[in-house]
Amino acid sequence: MSSTSQEISLQVSLPRHVAIIMDGNGRWAKKQGLPRILGHRRGAEVAKKITIKSRELGIPYLTLFAFSKENWQRPREEVSALLSLLVEYLDSELPTMLEKEIRFKMIGDREDFPVEIQRKILEVEKKTAQFSQMTLVLALSYSGRAEILKAINDLIKEVQSGRLGKVEVTEALLRKYFYFPELPDPDLLIRTSGELRVSNFFLYQLAYTEFYFTDLLWPEFTEEEFIKALEVYKRRERRFGKVYEF
Ligand code: IPE
Ligand code: IPE
Ligand code: MG
Repeated sequence: MSSTSQEISLQVSLPRHVAIIMDGNGRWAKKQGLPRILGHRRGAEVAKKITIKSRELGIPYLTLFAFSKENWQRPREEVSALLSLLVEYLDSELPTMLEKEIRFKMIGDREDFPVEIQRKILEVEKKTAQFSQMTLVLALSYSGRAEILKAINDLIKEVQSGRLGKVEVTEALLRKYFYFPELPDPDLLIRTSGELRVSNFFLYQLAYTEFYFTDLLWPEFTEEEFIKALEVYKRRERRFGKVYEF
């Protein structure tokens, strides 16, 4: 693994968790006169490259928003093509994850997927569970609002069943019921394709996240552009509501 001097200078203030809304696959395909699914296919290749670059740089957590809860409302053919692509991606990436020692985790509503896909996701999670340097999180059938509601409902169930006594709901307690409790809040959120919105991603967790928007469509995004976003992040002054100088 060789790093450029620019990459080495980045290490000083590397985000612990980068989250990416990989948007613009459809528009990219349309621009090329191709069917939307070929845009998704190209997008999956970019996702693989950014994952490897994150591993090389030493970013501990990378979350990729691949499919939202709302995306089920897309045309049936697009949804089923995306599901096939997901299976292909998991099959082809498992060896890479094992080789590069990347732990895989899914966040989102697993039950929304056909059982064979649920099984495959679980298999990749299990086979990579021992790795600790980097975790790749794939947000699938994910909705920030659904995650908060799930946490509240699970908590209520715990209390009603008597497994948990009367409690005051604190931030720490609520987080225990999120999809992946140990996941730190994102330090940096990247969204491609020029859309300036969060589209129901990590609503609770984005409280102090730095945002980086680019007009590039996801299939056009490169390792160099990723480094650029990390450089911009490095120059941001994060204040968390405090005052650092007068
Ligand atoms: C992002 O690209 C991938 C998914 C949401 C699955 P889009 O499919 O949203 O592409 P655009 O936004 O239509 O260009
Ligand atoms: C957000 O993109 C979801 C993913 C990238 C997976 P969308 O394309 O679904 O979001 P909107 O519809 O533009 O808000
Ligand atoms: Mg989109």
